[in-house]
Amino acid sequence: MDMSDGPVRLGIIGCGNVTEKRHLPAIQSVSDLQVVALADIDDGSLNRLADRFRVAKRYNDYRALLADQDVSAVAVCAPLSFHAEMALGALEAGKHVLVEKPLASSLDEADALIERAAHSPCKAMVGYNLRWHRLVRQAREIINQGRLGRIELAAAVFTAGTHFKSDVLEWKKRRALGGGVLMEFATHYFDLWRFLLDAEVEEVHASTRSDQWDDVTGTLTAHLSNGALATAYFSEWTSDRNELHIYGQAGSLHLDLYRFDGLESVPLFRAPGNIGGRLSHFGRSLRQLPRGVRHFRRGGEYYASFIAQWRHFAESIQEAVPLECTLEDGRRAMQIALAALKSASTGQAVRVEHAPREITPPGPRQTG
Ligand SMILES: NC(=O)c1ccc[n+]([C@@H]2O[C@H](COP(=O)([O-])OP(=O)(O)OC[C@H]3O[C@@H](n4cnc5c(N)ncnc54)[C@H](O)[C@@H]3O)[C@@H](O)[C@H]2O)c1
Repeated sequence: MDMSDGPVRLGIIGCGNVTEKRHLPAIQSVSDLQVVALADIDDGSLNRLADRFRVAKRYNDYRALLADQDVSAVAVCAPLSFHAEMALGALEAGKHVLVEKPLASSLDEADALIERAAHSPCKAMVGYNLRWHRLVRQAREIINQGRLGRIELAAAVFTAGTHFKSDVLEWKKRRALGGGVLMEFATHYFDLWRFLLDAEVEEVHASTRSDQWDDVTGTLTAHLSNGALATAYFSEWTSDRNELHIYGQAGSLHLDLYRFDGLESVPLFRAPGNIGGRLSHFGRSLRQLPRGVRHFRRGGEYYASFIAQWRHFAESIQEAVPLECTLEDGRRAMQIALAALKSASTGQAVRVEHAPREITPPGPRQTG
């Protein structure tokens, strides 16, 4: 492990969508981090990204990247089924590691990782980037100040036209390999509900459709430990939305994570169309416009959450700042997803503490 001064020297395993569109561009804005090596089994992706982002070291076998003494930290951005093996390898090799979400494909894998990390001086975190979204941070402050009162309800929507944007590799279409909305999309919100509401998800009831691929569209309801109810819908076959609504006994909070001015706090008894509320929202939007334009040029507010996430990772290594999204957090989000997958297959509500340890195969409840 390289603890010398200078930027953290990062190797990234997996040169697919998230590495190309999010991580490599975001890391360019983080002076404490430098990408020194890439690995991918696909030569075309490896060389294309290495050329474009001027990364000199390229490996087809990720184990060669792990053995590289010049690499002090590793990002695991390969498909889910490789996460645990690669992250474990990184810790064994004495490297800090950021594992993309979800943490692993079984609770046994997650537990092995947590156990290994507990006996390592290296940092290990999970990449739930929405925790670092500016509006999520603001929402958390408002909730922590008690301004919404007791939380009654949380609702989320996360949708995308995944198939329109890129060639979708087979793993994203197969539940057993980590694909489908409950693993790919919903785990973001399982983590966010825990982070924002400081509560655990105790029970889930999910329903999915699998016509284009496994779990391409899904809905979910949940009971939280603070008594709140949560509901969410997800799809990979429609237009892009990423929204969160939180309703408390003293007011509600509405977040659109794709907009720079996407946070609205609505006090009790103010109708949504109320002119005073609309004017103050308009004023806030105007004040935030310069920031919005600045960020728009660099990929938008959502993308900025990746920059903030990487800054936190580098800072936690260099300045021994405690990590915010730990392997335990990743395990918890995964356990909720495993319960949701079982629920989607059986049609029954599932207590999270009774979640199966592995991914439940798609059942007769899914149409296809
Ligand atoms: N935080 C986010 O918002 C976000 C967004 C997208 C994806 N992700 C996560 O990032 C991970 C990757 O997703 P993606 O969309 O980039 O997937 P992708 O399918 O586009 O890319 C995966 C890459 O890994 C490579 N790969 C496969 N097996 C490998 C191996 N054994 N060694 C090295 N490389 C290998 C593939 O060739 C491919 O280039 C997933 O866990 C996904 O859930 C997170």
